[in-house]
Amino acid sequence: MIVITGATGRLGSQVVDRLLTRIPADQVGVSVRDTARAADLRARGVRVRRGDFTEPESLAEAFENAAQVLIVSANDTGGEAVAQHAAAIDAATTVGATRILYTSHQGAGADSRFAPMPDHAATEALLAASGLPFTSLRNGFYTATIPLLLGNALETGELRAPADGPVSWTEHADLAEAAAIVLAEPDLIDGATPPLTAPNALDLNDIAAILTDLSGRTVRRVIVEDEDWTAGLITHGVPEAQAELLLGMFHASRRGEFATTDPALESLLGHEATSVRTFLEGALAPR
Ligand SMILES: NC(=O)c1ccc[n+]([C@@H]2O[C@H](COP(=O)([O-])OP(=O)(O)OC[C@H]3O[C@@H](n4cnc5c(N)ncnc54)[C@H](OP(=O)(O)O)[C@@H]3O)[C@@H](O)[C@H]2O)c1
Repeated sequence: MIVITGATGRLGSQVVDRLLTRIPADQVGVSVRDTARAADLRARGVRVRRGDFTEPESLAEAFENAAQVLIVSANDTGGEAVAQHAAAIDAATTVGATRILYTSHQGAGADSRFAPMPDHAATEALLAASGLPFTSLRNGFYTATIPLLLGNALETGELRAPADGPVSWTEHADLAEAAAIVLAEPDLIDGATPPLTAPNALDLNDIAAILTDLSGRTVRRVIVEDEDWTAGLITHGVPEAQAELLLGMFHASRRGEFATTDPALESLLGHEATSVRTFLEGALAPR
């Protein structure tokens, strides 16, 4: 059986969906915090069990009989996140899994300026120390993050944000499909994958140009001082720690931490990855 955590989240739910096109539902299980939110999966024949990384005892039952466990990284940061991932790795080992998969990041690195990246690096070190075969999916930066960086650019015609650097923005759907392929074909990749990214790295200047093109209204990129940007977020109710975390993403992108691109994702998928332009076309389409 293949067990997937985070299956009520954006990535995990799409992984399960794609996996069910490849293997029978009775070989798929999910470990979720709220089983009521996975009722649709149960109806499709998937084993649904409750598992919470902060309650390690719940994971023993949620992972029971798993040959492979896909640990979808939690959305905490720091020691808390790494402790949660450690609990999941321990549980997978205890139930006798023969392989662990983990959703890491292309920018995983102990000295990154963006807080989640050292957590991914620390989790990869735990995987390596576990003694079990593992695959660390070094996912590209989610394209879905872009709207969070735009502010009200489309209304004002100004994309105001701190200085940034290129990012190889990558769609959830493509990353989910790749994870499903790697789960269904266990011998494909061992250890850390190459960066799983779309083929182009774009900065906010490039994104302003795409927005201009798609909307028919000029969107100008305006660089804002770091402190002014975080102060603006805090004024709008964003907690200070969250604002600083987000600023770290700009610092990291300026250093080129998310600029790498690699053909591995498209070659796994056997088709082109979704471009930022296509994503923004969908995001701007009238509903
Ligand atoms: N590659 C990138 O650019 C990027 C960007 C942002 C985040 N990420 C990472 O990728 C992960 C998946 O992304 P996503 O878009 O699917 O995020 P998401 O929709 O927030 O999903 C996160 C999943 O993790 C589960 N989770 C959180 N805490 C947990 C715990 N204590 N025990 C068990 N499960 C727990 C959540 O459970 P519930 O459904 O019960 O809430 C949710 O299903 C994120 O959690 C984050 O680590 C990557």
